[in-house]
Amino acid sequence: MTEVANRTASARPLPHIVTELPGPKAREHIAIDREYVTPSLPRAYQIVPVRGDGVMVEDIDGNRFLDFAAGIAVNSTGHSHPDVVAAIAEQAATLLHCASSDYYLPVYAEVARQLDRIAPISGPTRAFLCNSGAEAVEAAMKLARYVTGRQNLVAFLGAFHGRTYGAMTLTGSKARYHAHYSPLVPGVYHVPYGNAGIDELEQRVFRRLMPAEEFAAIFVEPIQGEGGYVVPEPDFLPRLRRLCDQHGILLVDDEIQSGMGRTGQWWAIQHWGVEPDVVLTAKGIASGLPLGAMVARSELMSWPAGAHGSTFGGNPVSCAAALATMRLIENEFMANAAERGNQLLAGLRPLVRRHDRIVRDVRGIGLMIGIEFYSAASANAVQEECFQRGLLVLTAGEDVVRMSPALNLTEDEAVVGLRIFEQAVAAIDARG
Ligand SMILES: Cc1ncc(COP(=O)(O)O)c(C=O)c1O
Repeated sequence: MTEVANRTASARPLPHIVTELPGPKAREHIAIDREYVTPSLPRAYQIVPVRGDGVMVEDIDGNRFLDFAAGIAVNSTGHSHPDVVAAIAEQAATLLHCASSDYYLPVYAEVARQLDRIAPISGPTRAFLCNSGAEAVEAAMKLARYVTGRQNLVAFLGAFHGRTYGAMTLTGSKARYHAHYSPLVPGVYHVPYGNAGIDELEQRVFRRLMPAEEFAAIFVEPIQGEGGYVVPEPDFLPRLRRLCDQHGILLVDDEIQSGMGRTGQWWAIQHWGVEPDVVLTAKGIASGLPLGAMVARSELMSWPAGAHGSTFGGNPVSCAAALATMRLIENEFMANAAERGNQLLAGLRPLVRRHDRIVRDVRGIGLMIGIEFYSAASANAVQEECFQRGLLVLTAGEDVVRMSPALNLTEDEAVVGLRIFEQAVAAIDARG
């Protein structure tokens, strides 16, 4: 196969597919995995990755892929960026773990200080660091109940907030995420995403089901991720802010997928000029090491010692990776995300016309791009066809393929990705 010279020493073309997919070693490994690994993991396609560099992922058979999935929007600085690797190595050789719940780790406080500097909240903030997105969501649920003394929470249909009990309860994207797990956390109300949801809160929920003054928080993704990269109406987030202000409800901004510069701003909510009370981050913050954060206005962080904590949360190595990641994003990659996003959107939009039998919509901001198909079958087929052609993408929602590449994607890499994606769509369209 073709294409762009990769950044690696060997500078072999990318993508570069040398075996059938999955290859012989991949098939062998998948057989082992199927014997020993929980079958609950959804797995998008049969790739067995063993190495990554920039936007390149190499599988166990030596096939090299162009990665537009970035480990579900996690490898924000690409695979193994040298600055991040160096920060990790240095921190690992210095102090691997020391229980930030019990001791005052400088690197933990520095991450919190940096988060305060970039948070979409104008006053002072404080941060709680944890290991994942779901843990950040749980922390916000606990803080919201603690500080307001209210029990109930609002979340949106189509939302994805994670897999732990609280986060799973807030999730409203697929019924199978809730199946067989009842009872879920009580006091969670779901309404449609967008202005229809605000209407439903005002006209139905607050009037007929539960008074607004009984709600602690509204959890919202400013752009829905797992739900299908859905960009809301322009006035939705400002209206939501006003609704929260009116009733003393906290606005919790889940930026676990949309934040950390992915949309060309530190936080997607900044595109609407809205300030939340609490912002949640994870995924891209540490380029692949486990780290999550709940950042809240300082006056909300009124809970006392012992009210919340974590053994591993904010471990020094993840924190060091986060500091390096934030530096890279701020200095260069965030601006690049905006440019590459415009390039990809401009290249993808014509597909709606050219392949109008299968492509319904192209949307997104920055490097959070969704291509919606008329059916789940088409979306799945395009995802698989891209894989076979050396491009990694991931489906989202019912019938959307998402692109969420590293923020340092180059112009040439974007051109190659666009070409492969269009070829894949054309192939599926031709199958009829
Ligand atoms: C918006 C959002 N919130 C929360 C989560 C959960 O994060 P994690 O899988 O790290 O627990 C995700 C994961 O996809 C997400 O996209």
